[in-house]
Amino acid sequence: MALPIRICDAAKHVGDEVILRGWLYGRTDKGRLQFLLVRDGTGVMQAVVLEGSVPPEAFAAARRVSQESSLIVCGMVRQDRRAPGGYELAVSNLEIVQLAQEYPIQPKEHGVDFLMDWRHLWIRSPRQAAILRVRAHIIRAIRNWLDEHGFVNADTPIITPSACEGTTTLFPIDYFGAPAYLTQSGQLYNEATAMALGKVYAFGPTFRAEKSKTRRHLTEFWMVEPEMAYADLEENMRVAEELVSHVVQSTLQHCQRELQELERDTKPLERVCPPFPRLHYDEAVRLLNEWGVPLEWGDDFGAPHETAIGEHFDKPVLVHRYPAKVKAFYMQPDPDRPELSLSVDMIAPEGYGEIVGGGQRIHDLALLERRLQEHGLPREAYEWYLDLRRYGSVPHSGFGLGLERTVAWICGLQHIRETIPFPRTLGRVWP
Ligand code: 4AD
Ligand code: MG
Repeated sequence: MALPIRICDAAKHVGDEVILRGWLYGRTDKGRLQFLLVRDGTGVMQAVVLEGSVPPEAFAAARRVSQESSLIVCGMVRQDRRAPGGYELAVSNLEIVQLAQEYPIQPKEHGVDFLMDWRHLWIRSPRQAAILRVRAHIIRAIRNWLDEHGFVNADTPIITPSACEGTTTLFPIDYFGAPAYLTQSGQLYNEATAMALGKVYAFGPTFRAEKSKTRRHLTEFWMVEPEMAYADLEENMRVAEELVSHVVQSTLQHCQRELQELERDTKPLERVCPPFPRLHYDEAVRLLNEWGVPLEWGDDFGAPHETAIGEHFDKPVLVHRYPAKVKAFYMQPDPDRPELSLSVDMIAPEGYGEIVGGGQRIHDLALLERRLQEHGLPREAYEWYLDLRRYGSVPHSGFGLGLERTVAWICGLQHIRETIPFPRTLGRVWP
């Protein structure tokens, strides 16, 4: 009896009679010989149908099966160096499950807008499927590392009463007649769970009503956010560089085939190991001006500044101590220079920009109250957050790693929109 197998396991079944259940990716018609490229989500395999070796109705089906039709193919696995993937199937029978209508995505160049309109089908292409597989691995590597290093996964709410990262990018919702917002970050809640559990992380979708139409911005993206009680900025930077290094090395190890499919040059990724260069904001401003990418002291980085820094170093860079006024209300001031914050951004190499943002949080009640006021934030909405400074407050730190920017960097993609199955951007909520 033939058993169903997955294409990724073909090597283990050479000489076996097996069943492949998948979809038709492509076909070459050589008259009495039909070469069907079958994909099953784990890979693509050539199925060779020879007239006379299969029942006549199966041969007829092989001749008329259209692109992306679903089909079940039986046959024997053979090793063949010429076949894509190194194995092929000598078909003994074949059955069409559903004969697909004319497929909208043809094997030619399509514009990205067209492909994005057909995103629900585009994800079937080997390149898009490879990206999604790498994404899944990156998620697994992140979780494994945090779980093994004493971080407890504590989920934070998506519907929230207040802002975390400034009020200009909040998505308001109508919560039974009262205003609420989609969360921009789980951080404020992480600070509460960190006081309960010591070291925690949240990993979930976050939302920003970003008006920016860039290759780095989504309106819905996933963030992993570790938070640690009794940790300062230095400790925070160490954890960030260890986590990111692990994720990169683990992906190199486990996703070779996918990275090959994506034609990713893996040399720059092989260098990603601790320690990452640390760059004080003062020094970053000096260097940027020296490189001809002007930045006035006190201003935040734009994309050109991040790109310049990323291109100058061959590893991710930890830029620390940004001016307090360009960062969020919760940032702890530098005790030596209160105009600076104990913040850190990690800038990825090769022009991928900021992938991590974080810092040490204010632990003093009076200072935090003052900051809420300076930022014009409604105190009532933050009363519970202020309680964390009333009951056993301690210095603590954390950061957020943007999943999609990390996937874009590791896969070497031009644009963030291909890093998530169904991207949400300024101009797109379809499909
Ligand atoms: O720098 P951000 O805004 O930091 C925070 O939200 C902190 N509260 C996190 C924390 O400390 N727990 O966002 C963190 C990361 C960025 O470095 C970036 O990688 C990603 O989230 N990110 C986005 N990714 C895609 N599209 C957007 N619009 C993004 N905004 C931020
Ligand atoms: Mg940031």
